[in-house]
Amino acid sequence: MKITVLGRGNVGGGLADLWEQAGHQLTRLGRDGGDVSEADVVLIAVPGAALAEALEKVEGLAGKTVIDATNRFGVDPPAGFASNAEYVKSKTNGPTAKSFNINFARLYPRLAEARVRPSNLWSGDDEVQPVVEQLIRDAGYEPVRVGNLEMAGAQEAMIRVVISIMKDSGPFLYRMAPPERL
Ligand SMILES: NC(=O)c1ccc[n+]([C@@H]2O[C@H](COP(=O)([O-])OP(=O)(O)OC[C@H]3O[C@@H](n4cnc5c(N)ncnc54)[C@H](OP(=O)(O)O)[C@@H]3O)[C@@H](O)[C@H]2O)c1
Repeated sequence: MKITVLGRGNVGGGLADLWEQAGHQLTRLGRDGGDVSEADVVLIAVPGAALAEALEKVEGLAGKTVIDATNRFGVDPPAGFASNAEYVKSKTNGPTAKSFNINFARLYPRLAEARVRPSNLWSGDDEVQPVVEQLIRDAGYEPVRVGNLEMAGAQEAMIRVVISIMKDSGPFLYRMAPPERL
C-alpha cells in the first residue's frame, strides 16, 4: 500500500518504519503538511490538540481512508464532535478508523519478541476493516475491534486508564483473547 503518515514522530515515524519493513511504500509529513492525494491510506499521528491546525495544511484528503492515532489528554475534541476520529471523518468523508492510540510507540521495537502477538484496539467504519486490520498485523499486533466509529470517543477516553497503569508499572503490551485462543 501507499501510506502517508501525517506526523513523523514516535508514532508516525515508528509505524512508518514497521510498515516499510513489511513492504509498504511510505511518505512522511511533518507540521508543514503536504499533499496526500497519492496515498491509499493516511495515518494521522500529530498532537491531539493540534489536529485541526494540522489538517488545514493537508491537501487531497477528500475521500481518503484514514487511521487516526491521536490522543487528547484532557483536551476536548473539536467543537461539535464526540471524538477526534469523527472530526477527521468530517474533513474526508472517507473510511475512517481510530487505532494505535492505545499502544505505546516506545514498545514498537520489542513487538517481534512477543511470545504471542499483543492486541491493538480499533474502532471505525466497516469499509476500513480490511485495511486497518492488515496494517495492525503488519505492524506486529493482532487487531481487536471495539465497534463502529461512534465508539472512537470511548477509545480516546481509555487513554486515561492506560496512562494511570503506565505511571505505576511503565509502558506495557496487552492481549484480549477469546477463551478458545488462550
Ligand atoms: N507516543 C506514544 O506512545 C503514543 C501512542 C499512541 C498515540 N499517541 C498519540 O499520537 C500522536 C503523536 O504522538 P507522538 O508521540 O508521535 O508525537 P511526536 O513524536 O511529538 O510527533 C508529533 C508529530 O506531529 C507533527 N505535527 C504536526 N502538526 C503539529 C503541530 N501543530 N504541533 C506540533 N507537532 C505537529 C510533528 O511535526 P514535525 O516533524 O514537523 O515536528 C511531528 O512529526 C499524539 O496525538 C499522541 O497522543 C502517542
